[in-house]
Amino acid sequence: MNIGIIGCGAISSQYMVGFDKNKNDVNVLACADLDNEKSKLFAKEYNIEHLTVNNLFSNPDIDIIVNLTPPSSHFEISCESLKSGKHVFSEKPVALSIEQGKKLYGLIYKHDRYLFSAPDTTLGPAFTKSQDLILSGKIGEIIGASASFATHGVEGWHPNPSFYYKKGGGPLFDMGPYYLTALFKILGPVSEIISYSQKTFQVRSVDNPEVKYKNIDVDVDTHYLALLKFKSGVVVDFEISFDIWKPYEPKLEFYGSLSSIKFADPNNYDGDVSIFDKNSYRWEKVHSSTNDENNYYRGLGVINMVKSITENNISQDEMLLPFHVLEVMCALETYDGKGRWEKINPQF
Ligand SMILES: NC(=O)c1ccc[n+]([C@@H]2O[C@H](COP(=O)([O-])OP(=O)(O)OC[C@H]3O[C@@H](n4cnc5c(N)ncnc54)[C@H](O)[C@@H]3O)[C@@H](O)[C@H]2O)c1
Repeated sequence: MNIGIIGCGAISSQYMVGFDKNKNDVNVLACADLDNEKSKLFAKEYNIEHLTVNNLFSNPDIDIIVNLTPPSSHFEISCESLKSGKHVFSEKPVALSIEQGKKLYGLIYKHDRYLFSAPDTTLGPAFTKSQDLILSGKIGEIIGASASFATHGVEGWHPNPSFYYKKGGGPLFDMGPYYLTALFKILGPVSEIISYSQKTFQVRSVDNPEVKYKNIDVDVDTHYLALLKFKSGVVVDFEISFDIWKPYEPKLEFYGSLSSIKFADPNNYDGDVSIFDKNSYRWEKVHSSTNDENNYYRGLGVINMVKSITENNISQDEMLLPFHVLEVMCALETYDGKGRWEKINPQF
């Protein structure tokens, strides 16, 4: 299937690494960006066509639009793509509000097109191995889980960090989808939440000399602690923060009646997976990455989407998942702070 990329920024070349590894399934035809110079350079580097955004929408040869714009543009670009009769693979988050999500979800059915969304790291070897171990009963019945991610933001490395502190950014909408997607794939949907959040720093200082601005006004909360109660009854503690100077290892652990399993970093496609051995009383590694190139698998979600479309094997659960992630993130974001369980009313 033919692909058009919209958004030729930091992540776009990583997608090209993955697409290059899967040339039999996908063919990147063209790219577009609000910044014409960026799309021109990208097109030259990868020997593809560069078009205006509108011309990319109307190009009849393009089957799938890969939306790699910042979160604030995801909704608009995905809507226009569906209206133009294209399938969409969107970077996360799929939208920024329930209202946007509903419009988008409606367009999928109205135009009979498919929309899949990042993260696709759960398709990588580390997560699939862990999922298989859980399904095989290796840790017994799941009684709990714990997920956390903490860092001091992105302004130290990202070439354009401001969007990470605006609506649609922050740790919840930026990193949350990796953890929530992984949790939902193992535990199913969430039924209730309790959340605490704060904005610790009102302004972020940018030290990176390549970035033109020096300060970013922070619009969103950047430190979250929450409890997620799943329909199954399992309760999970979930912490996600851009405010912690000394980051600790990303954590995604599931606790079972027989043992515990430590997943690889859900932001990556591969990594170490360990199971707790009761006899030796130690974590035993049961999977390690054989390829240290994390970008190797980037775009796996697009490849999976192409296969699902060509084999006419679209999973409804898979289509719904990013929208469930959205409704849980919106509930955590707008939680009233009263400390009671708040129900997640399914919106999609
Ligand atoms: N950078 C990373 O490491 C990373 C990793 C995983 C996911 N992502 C996600 O990928 C997306 C893009 O991130 P990035 O880091 O590449 O950002 P970026 O700012 O480097 O690039 C975004 C590009 O989109 C263009 N753009 C913005 N609005 C547009 C519009 N309406 N139409 C056309 N082009 C538009 C910008 O000009 C820019 O070139 C985000 O959703 C981000 O969360 C980024």
